[in-house]
Amino acid sequence: MVRPIEIAGMVCPNNVFLAPMAGYSDYPFRKMCRALGAGLSFTEMVSCKGLAFGNEATKKLLTTGEGETPRAVQIFGSSPVLMRATCESEELAPFDLIDINMGCPMPKIVKNGEGCALMENPVLAFQIVSECVKSGKRISVKFRTGMKEGDRLAADFAKLCEDAGACMVTVHGRTRDKIYSGPPDYGQIAEAKAAVKIPVIANGGVWNRKDVDKMIDRTGADGVMIARAAMYNPRVFCEIAGAEPPSLLEIFLIQLRETREYYGDAFATVQMRKMAAFYLKGKHGAARGKQRLFAAKTPEEVEALARELLVDPGEGTTV
Ligand SMILES: Cc1cc2nc3c(=O)[nH]c(=O)nc-3n(C[C@H](O)[C@H](O)[C@H](O)COP(=O)(O)O)c2cc1C
Repeated sequence: MVRPIEIAGMVCPNNVFLAPMAGYSDYPFRKMCRALGAGLSFTEMVSCKGLAFGNEATKKLLTTGEGETPRAVQIFGSSPVLMRATCESEELAPFDLIDINMGCPMPKIVKNGEGCALMENPVLAFQIVSECVKSGKRISVKFRTGMKEGDRLAADFAKLCEDAGACMVTVHGRTRDKIYSGPPDYGQIAEAKAAVKIPVIANGGVWNRKDVDKMIDRTGADGVMIARAAMYNPRVFCEIAGAEPPSLLEIFLIQLRETREYYGDAFATVQMRKMAAFYLKGKHGAARGKQRLFAAKTPEEVEALARELLVDPGEGTTV
């Protein structure tokens, strides 16, 4: 089930991908998940308008480097012309694949006609994909099964993306109104897979190796994409690959060091407090540990707390 995958000539070592996650999928996190076994990783969704206006915070989301090849970026917007210009921009030159977000459920995105609003605007969605394809880059699309319970849009939408020139689609097996809750709709992902020849990646509710097998068994998808399971436990990629994971503390300290290096101490303190709190989930004393973490004011304080709190049972603090 877990196997290498080729997407329009781009070879990924395996078909278990790290999903785009706004606020979390920064370069150090993506790089770490790749080192732990993710076959491909995506930046968080990047605004085409933000890039066009030269917004520095938007540009920062495109930070990438070694340990992340091939590279994938996700963009969002609703103007075919602007989106094609983004695909052709210098800023996106380091990326081998450009994913278009047509699945974001957030009101501020949907009310602009972006994200999953595009599922209800197939003419515009087609124009966006076909314009972006003209950039000569590999274009993929991530979308949902529809807007509301009962919608069955996945198969037709996958076909629309393929006809417009996309080289891969990711189907998040939930409707917009479900946000991230409930089981994925395996049936609709299977229908999307049957409707197209391009690779179909299945997303939603994959937490472990068993879920990967179940997802691929039930849908016939070519691979899976994992979001929240990685946010809580990036070592899930080792578990899926059957590899021995490094200690939680070890990976946390690398992530902290690199987050400081790429984004500075103020950002690293806030971000890595959050990450440590996620990694603590399920551990003894997690609630009190989280309180202490959120009181940390410097990366050194975050590190000291991590050395105390993120130790696996039976493990010493030798890192
Ligand atoms: C905090 C958070 C941020 C997310 N940001 C994005 C995003 O930028 N682009 C996107 O396509 N999906 C985004 N998603 C959706 C995930 O990529 C994924 O489709 C969803 O969480 C379902 O996968 P899961 O069940 O493995 O969590 C986000 C999800 C979460 C939890």
